[in-house]
Amino acid sequence: MDAFPIPADTYKLGFIGAGKMAESIARGVVRSGILPASRITTATHSNPLRREAFESFGVRVLSKNDDVVEESDVIVFSVKPQVVKDAVSKLKPLLSKKKLLVSVAAGIKLKDLEEWAGSSRFIRVMPNTPAAVGEAASVMSLGGTATEEDGNLIAKLFGSVGKIWRADEKFFDAVTGLSGSGPAYIYLAIEALADGGVAAGLPRELALGLASQTVLGAASMATKTGKHPGQLKDDVTSPGGTTIAGIHELEKGGFRGLLMNAVVAAAKRGRELS
Ligand SMILES: NC(=O)c1ccc[n+]([C@@H]2O[C@H](COP(=O)([O-])OP(=O)(O)OC[C@H]3O[C@@H](n4cnc5c(N)ncnc54)[C@H](OP(=O)(O)O)[C@@H]3O)[C@@H](O)[C@H]2O)c1
Repeated sequence: MDAFPIPADTYKLGFIGAGKMAESIARGVVRSGILPASRITTATHSNPLRREAFESFGVRVLSKNDDVVEESDVIVFSVKPQVVKDAVSKLKPLLSKKKLLVSVAAGIKLKDLEEWAGSSRFIRVMPNTPAAVGEAASVMSLGGTATEEDGNLIAKLFGSVGKIWRADEKFFDAVTGLSGSGPAYIYLAIEALADGGVAAGLPRELALGLASQTVLGAASMATKTGKHPGQLKDDVTSPGGTTIAGIHELEKGGFRGLLMNAVVAAAKRGRELS
């Protein structure tokens, strides 16, 4: 595969599927300066409004998927999972070994992608919705002939919309249960914390602002201090104080077990669906 390295600073990037995830990634890439918008292309499908969304920040919108593939060194398949087989198979004659292929489609396995494309220079990535605000938690797995350099290039690309880890593909259902579905668990937590604030007498708007910022702050503490979350919790629980009284209630309600169950249930559902 080393015979066809992708030029790291000058490659062209194309998206098959001009949807929300493609837009988030393209915006992140342009914002972070990894590639200029002029080197990114996509093609619209049935919704003409998607053209405006991409052109508004300089991405070129071509008339068909074939043109995007021909223009690009790196091609990201960002159509819905049920459409991936059709989209990849139709483009198969154009998917030479020179092109690095990427899929963000939830639940679609590398072995199927490789078969439909007739190429195993494929990388599967599982991002999550906070990609839209540059805070995605993504995981990637490399297909048969994707090189180390290919992996580094894709890590840099998705690093522009958040953080990315490498993991064996066998972990992808668990990843879906944790980081894929996880933002929704936290939205519930934010809403419930705000409800608690209102129940304790706060105005709704103030309660919601405090709840969101508290979750953001706690997540930043966990990622930036490098401390174990148990240690961070111990640091803020003084004997007989307010925080340990609140934690006691959470433990009585099975808070940790509930979150663990949620991840396991979503992972199981992911396995069933894929
Ligand atoms: N959104 C997320 O946070 C997230 C997270 C992880 C993974 N993903 C994955 O990302 C992929 C895209 O999700 P999304 O949320 O961006 O969905 P989306 O906004 O619905 O985008 C999909 C796009 O694909 C287009 N499309 C459909 N058939 C096509 C075809 N044959 N050729 C070219 N384009 C076609 C659609 O166009 P029309 O509407 O005009 O038909 C639409 O613009 C999915 O596979 C999903 O599993 C998304």
